[in-house]
Amino acid sequence: FQPKYLEGKRVLITAGPTFEAIDAVRGLTNRSSGRMGLAMAQAALEAGTRVTLICGPICLPLPAVHKFVQVVSAEEMLAAVKNEVDNSDIFISVAAVADYRPAEYHASKLKKKEQNITLTLVPNPDIVRYVASLPNPPFCVGFAAETDNIEQYAAEKRSRKKLPLIVANHATEAIGADASTLMLLDEEGTHHLPKVDKSVQARLVMAHIAHLYDNRKNN
Ligand code: C5P
Repeated sequence: FQPKYLEGKRVLITAGPTFEAIDAVRGLTNRSSGRMGLAMAQAALEAGTRVTLICGPICLPLPAVHKFVQVVSAEEMLAAVKNEVDNSDIFISVAAVADYRPAEYHASKLKKKEQNITLTLVPNPDIVRYVASLPNPPFCVGFAAETDNIEQYAAEKRSRKKLPLIVANHATEAIGADASTLMLLDEEGTHHLPKVDKSVQARLVMAHIAHLYDNRKNN
């Protein structure tokens, strides 16, 4: 039994990796499986919310969300978020958005050469930062996967991106795994979650989001 903490609230979630095309057949991506994002969507449904899920390329069965939007690149994910954000009370940015995309896209397959080649990358927009900086933003939750100095880097990200809550984990433990250790960083400090299945962790994170959402300053 899960309490309906957030009955009727509208939750927007991004999940999975993004894929940044180089040419017709190649691209850059990362090892995010989408598992945590989907677990958050399921936990949000159990909490009684209306869920819109915007997802990069993943190969997992989807929870029965109210609206699903499939995207490929970070720019497409940003466009989809812009379409949905006005109808959201809470934004949970779980997606592992690629930090860079190739400066140029080649519509035909590039031919192989015998020498080194150089790929120029340009930074992608920071989606959660964009949302958190809107004049009247939804309650924004970020995720941070790190390999070193997890807590310090996550705390810096939380303040840089102006997020009331960031969920931090160990990148190599988390990517594709069923369980990893999570830390919740909010204005009160750091809370450690047990190393349990992602679906259980997602429910604990959702309960914490509900607690902070109910106690937010501009309530
Ligand atoms: O800066 P970093 O990528 O580690 O931050 C992770 C958090 O920021 C996650 O919540 C992720 O969804 C979000 N993010 C984003 N757009 C980006 C990069 C990260 O929304 N371009």
